Amino acid sequence: MSLDSSAPATEQQFFAIFLDSLRLDAILDFDLYIEQGPEFILYRSARLPFTEKTRRMLLENNTTRLFVSTDSRQSYQHYLECNLPDIVQDSSIQESVRGSIVYDSAKFLVKDLFAKPSLVENVRRGQELIESTVSFILSSDSAISCLLQIMAFDYTTYTHSVNVCTLSLALAQFIGIRNPSELEALGTGALLHDIGKTRVGEPVLNKIEPLTPDELFLIKRHPQWGCELLQKSNLLAPESYYPIIQHHERMNGSGYPHGLGRNDIHLFGRITAIADAFDAMTTEKAYRHAIDSYPALKEMFAEEGAFDPELLSEFARMFGPSGLIDD
Ligand SMILES: [Fe+2]
Ligand SMILES: [Fe+2]
Repeated sequence: MSLDSSAPATEQQFFAIFLDSLRLDAILDFDLYIEQGPEFILYRSARLPFTEKTRRMLLENNTTRLFVSTDSRQSYQHYLECNLPDIVQDSSIQESVRGSIVYDSAKFLVKDLFAKPSLVENVRRGQELIESTVSFILSSDSAISCLLQIMAFDYTTYTHSVNVCTLSLALAQFIGIRNPSELEALGTGALLHDIGKTRVGEPVLNKIEPLTPDELFLIKRHPQWGCELLQKSNLLAPESYYPIIQHHERMNGSGYPHGLGRNDIHLFGRITAIADAFDAMTTEKAYRHAIDSYPALKEMFAEEGAFDPELLSEFARMFGPSGLIDD
């Protein structure tokens, strides 16, 4: 049994979960394993309630992480999503652990969303996850910095979506937006901003060589395609479409799909544009090395008139000594 993704397909594989993600007395739909040397040993069978006694015994043995078979990933994810509203509000769980649980859960949900973007159920799950995320970030002043520090810097469409959502919510909160429904509308749109890329296709998205004009044409359709896909579910607030349709628009009119000018781009579009460009620069990609936050911000300031100058200054301040991240 192995955690190594390069292990033979027949071998059972596992992923680590936080002990704190398990609610007491919950009936679980998946087996729990513990790590013993190179082996993973069955610790508790599915459908046995997870009791206070079990939890105490594990903690006495300094076990804060358990393991679940990758075959049960969907069951664990379903359990997590059902319990996330309680987990994010549970102050007995360390804030950084709650943040990691939210982040990991979002990453897996986005995977499902990208696999079936027009499935109403998936969109609804995305909205519920954002509700929990917003309730987490409004629960304390330090919660959003916690999420910013957890962000992964290896680029995948999934981590990018979650990062853009996190950065957008962080900037919105930093400029004083504290209304939950506003933050939820922004967060949902930001999480789904690139969903239209599912129609572009992997070969074009992962191409290392320069794109042909036809391929570029396809790429530039993704904001509209995203809106089309999501309109089918009819679940999103009207404001959630701004991050999707406008995240590649630029204040100087050089963006796409509509080449809008400064007065025509909604605040949510301007916020997501900054979050999207910043994450694209600071994460590692096949065709581009990641750069640090400071040079990325410098590059964005140098793109004259592309981004909302006041928002960009606030975004930079957010990463500075008086901002959310002080290291
Ligand atoms: Fe995009
Ligand atoms: Fe993006």
